[in-house]
Amino acid sequence: MNKIAGIETMQGVKSVRDIDVANKRVLVRVDFNVPLDEDFNISDDTRIREALPTINYCIDNGAKNITLVSHLGRPKGRSSEFSLKHILKRVERLLGRDVAFADSIESVKTLQNTLTGSNSVILLENIRYYDGEEKNSDELSAKLGELCDVYVNDAFGTSHRAHASTYGVAKFVKEKVAGLLLKKEIDSFAKALANPLKPVLLIVGGSKVSSKLTLLYNILDSIDKIVIGGAMSNTFLKARGFDMQKSLVEDDLVSEARKILDTAKQKGVKIYLPVDVVSTDDIKKHEHIKITPAQDIPDGYMAVDMGPATSKLFSEVVRDSQTIIWNGPLGIYEIGAFSRGTFSLAHAVSDTYAFSLIGGGDTADAIDKAGERDNMSFISTGGGASLELLEGEVLPAFEVLDKK
Ligand code: 3PG
Repeated sequence: MNKIAGIETMQGVKSVRDIDVANKRVLVRVDFNVPLDEDFNISDDTRIREALPTINYCIDNGAKNITLVSHLGRPKGRSSEFSLKHILKRVERLLGRDVAFADSIESVKTLQNTLTGSNSVILLENIRYYDGEEKNSDELSAKLGELCDVYVNDAFGTSHRAHASTYGVAKFVKEKVAGLLLKKEIDSFAKALANPLKPVLLIVGGSKVSSKLTLLYNILDSIDKIVIGGAMSNTFLKARGFDMQKSLVEDDLVSEARKILDTAKQKGVKIYLPVDVVSTDDIKKHEHIKITPAQDIPDGYMAVDMGPATSKLFSEVVRDSQTIIWNGPLGIYEIGAFSRGTFSLAHAVSDTYAFSLIGGGDTADAIDKAGERDNMSFISTGGGASLELLEGEVLPAFEVLDKK
């Protein structure tokens, strides 16, 4: 069943622009779950930058104070490696103002009472240090609710989680609305899925068919063409009868892949698979690399990227599309020798005038490494959340917000 209609429901939530925040205590749930290296340097601060418009909007419109709540990683207990102190300086620099750090919910209260000038910004320590967060406990939700008059959710990356700070808290606050990033994300997905310019192309990759099954079935009614790459294409190529040698194949899903190919055909959706592949006998050393037709992978070799003929074919398909949705890399793009397929398609997408919507996570990272970040129409800040949207889910975070 196609469940794209859920997107329109999610578009119907109120945003921070629809209410008055002046002189109110505002709690903004942000997703500051940014990647850190071993020295705790932020390697990509996109998620912080993307939250700035909402925070600045609240400042500019006279909020009494703004409390930022986020998680970082998946801590077990109060492990310092997951402290939001690691990102405090960057938040201050990007906002261009001091941000008070609160170790606990109690210290947020104290700070709210002592920082009496308007517009003060407070960052609460990692909300996942609290046991009740992932359990969506009423106790924690109520405590968060006590910190604010207005609850703003701007954490698109975490909007598929029904946690205390993304879901439960709404029960304890009178006004609960979407932030500007949440709105921008859902409007972009609506543009690609609910009301797209045709033809619509889905580019899907990544390692496992199993993780994209629901997406593929849900989206078949909304698109015209699918390009399948990455390791998941091996399972489809096997379903077409090719000997994939040592390539990663989900043997238990070969018949499912056949079913998808048949269903797509019945629905008039064209599926494009690699016609040639780059393969190696050892991914780590990759001393021996061969480019062959997809049905001629040498004995003992495994497919790791699409070949040049496939890049050409896929680029033609891209060129002929008006809307492009891309979820999942098309090869082992982290290894230079196997990144060409993914990068060439990123360049092809960037050369079109199509509306291009890029799923977050690995896909966003691959586009970034291809140097094409600025040339896509929209790159989502959510990996898991964007996948669930494409699967047709109504994301929990949207469910609890006020409707227009
Ligand atoms: C993400 O990075 O996908 C979000 O921040 C959610 O994180 P989680 O998968 O740990 O809930």
